[in-house]
Amino acid sequence: MTIIINMRDGVDERKIRVAGRLILEGKLVAFPTETVYGLGADALNENAVRRIFEAKGRPPDNPLIIHIADLKDLKKVAASIPREAEMLAKKFWPGPLTLVLPKSEKVPYVTTGGLDTVAVRMPAHPVALALIRASTPVAAPSANISGRPSPTLAEHVVDDFYGKIEAIIDGGPTWVGVESTVLDLTSERPTLLRPGGLPLEEIERVIGEVEVHPAVKGKKVDLAKAPGMKYRHYSPKTPVVVVEGNPEKRLEKIRELVEERRSQGLRVGVMATARVDADEFYFLGSTPEEVARNLFKALRTLDKSGVDVIIAEGIEEEGLGLAVMNRLRKAAGYRVIRV
Ligand code: TXA
Ligand code: MG
Repeated sequence: MTIIINMRDGVDERKIRVAGRLILEGKLVAFPTETVYGLGADALNENAVRRIFEAKGRPPDNPLIIHIADLKDLKKVAASIPREAEMLAKKFWPGPLTLVLPKSEKVPYVTTGGLDTVAVRMPAHPVALALIRASTPVAAPSANISGRPSPTLAEHVVDDFYGKIEAIIDGGPTWVGVESTVLDLTSERPTLLRPGGLPLEEIERVIGEVEVHPAVKGKKVDLAKAPGMKYRHYSPKTPVVVVEGNPEKRLEKIRELVEERRSQGLRVGVMATARVDADEFYFLGSTPEEVARNLFKALRTLDKSGVDVIIAEGIEEEGLGLAVMNRLRKAAGYRVIRV
């Protein structure tokens, strides 16, 4: 039995108390954040956290992010807080930035996938903050079955988890659309492990140059530091092809590909920043922010529409574009055409 809790019109304290109690009882509650929906459980309760891994089909060595609502809780979950963490938290929390820090003894290894580090963030969604305040620090991966596109609507969570978890809080569409930026502050130099909702450029303005983990660019390397990157990700069931490069040429190439595939008798779905004639079309928007917001919904919608192939337009890797392209290339299993 899954209860759907409607909070599209804002925080309802009475309903939040019900959901908070479920978390404290070790139950699973999906909730909205500004990035994507999370599948939440009490971060310090081993059995509850184990249920997250089971429900998602997530490999046990892929660690979870702990969500806090108060800086006091950072001291509870992290063993030490470097100066950069203080500066970044002050500037960007609540917001789409996750910091990897040394873990405190209170945090079970189940939550950190066996690592001595812990990922922490303070989400910028009033419903998420209220839920955490009504319960405890909440461990939450994106609320999708492992490998599928992340959920930006409660309906996406319903598609993946109805009947498998205790509650889903519907807070309407999330507004960032890609997951948080993950920054490791436990290595010699601050290192970007996952580009996300907070652009790298903004982080560098506060703490100076940041190293970019090679896996972010899709290279195959030692993945012990960034366990999330070795798994299949964001994939619809339909094959995806990405077309990247010069903006005019890539639209031209997409039109050409549509004709080619249709002549082979295939039904073609296109997601792009300008109108393209195809069997199904999803408009991604015209700024990197809009594309980020629409990306996962576009993948899920085209996947459901029953097309045989999805052709996706790539965008420039600046600002949120870095996160968008990271997700898109993974969704395509690195089937990329450059023009
Ligand atoms: O925006 C978000 O971050 C969303 C919302 C719900 O907060 N959550 C999310 O969680 O995207 P998830 O589990 O889908 O992605 C967490 C990422 C994974 O790539 C994981 O490997 C990485 O963070 N991660 C977590 N703990 C880590 C650690 N201790 N060291 C390195 N990477 C870590
Ligand atoms: Mg995820």
